[in-house]
Amino acid sequence: MRKVGIVAVGSYVPAEKLTNSDLEKMVDTTDEWITSRTGIKERRIAPAGVHASDLAVKAAADCLARTPDRPQLLIAATSSAEKACPYQASIIAQSLNLTNLAAFDLNAACSGLIYALAVGRSLMQTEGYDHALITAGEKLSRFVDYKDRASCILFGDAGAALMLSAEEQPEHELLTVELGADPTGADLVVMGGPEDEFYFRQDGKSVFRFAVEKMGSLIDLLKTRVGCDDDRYFIIPHQANSRILEAVARNKEIPPERFISNISKYGNTSSASIGLALKEAWDENRFTKGDYLFLIGFGGGLSWAAAAVRW
Ligand code: COA
Repeated sequence: MRKVGIVAVGSYVPAEKLTNSDLEKMVDTTDEWITSRTGIKERRIAPAGVHASDLAVKAAADCLARTPDRPQLLIAATSSAEKACPYQASIIAQSLNLTNLAAFDLNAACSGLIYALAVGRSLMQTEGYDHALITAGEKLSRFVDYKDRASCILFGDAGAALMLSAEEQPEHELLTVELGADPTGADLVVMGGPEDEFYFRQDGKSVFRFAVEKMGSLIDLLKTRVGCDDDRYFIIPHQANSRILEAVARNKEIPPERFISNISKYGNTSSASIGLALKEAWDENRFTKGDYLFLIGFGGGLSWAAAAVRW
């Protein structure tokens, strides 16, 4: 089987910040409540006229600037594309003059980026693509009811992109992936539907419990699969709530510094969040050769997806 590695990561966030003190003026909430219940201090919001695909294009351009590799396959993870057609991957390819490639969108809510990594890796191994660009562009703010204090505090807009390349000896090899979904929880996270189902709503407590349990079991699974029996690993989780990470750390007796988190600055950016956190940690040189990275997504569906990378 061909080996596949992550050769570059790019990201993009809009300039405009929505802080907790801004939200205090919009709904009945406080900085103290939001910070202690979610870990979020501010998020970035794309202005009217800037769409999810624009965020994905900017992140993809950032990624392409970091590698000479050009994709024969493009998978755009998104749950907030502005149009059904042209779909997001075709807009990205058109904007960046990427031709002679296969391109499609993939929606697995907040697990989308890791699902796309898994599909991309598989197609590279079975169909011979040498390079695959995986993007996540999300403008969740368009589904947020800014009168609903329970949900408007959570989300931000962002884009992320990763280049996968087939290599003899990858520097950052994608070792294993695990995908899953539990359709009995399909109605626990809802957005983007007709009229009364348009704005985001969730059963926050049920999703919270699911996320803590699933992330814990996925960490165990990845550790076993890759044979990691020491503490040379980092978890790059979907950034939904810092209390989820604290609970997993407590349950599994994992030192909190093993979790990469930037939720305080960006909130929940759905499928973009793991890419955004990976990019930031990579730029900060947080990882050393031989470390394992466990990328773990979860969310609507209910879906989950995990990938192990050896640095
Ligand atoms: N400011 C102040 N009070 C708020 C508030 C806000 N922004 N939002 C809710 N509250 C209130 C509620 O009205 C409720 O008041 P009550 O007890 O008088 O009824 C109280 O705070 C507790 O609300 P609850 O919804 O039970 O809070 P919670 O501790 O479950 O936290 C979430 C809510 C959404 C932060 C949390 O459930 C969560 O993060 N869940 C997981 C979400 C997730 O991972 N989603 C992924 C899908 S993409």
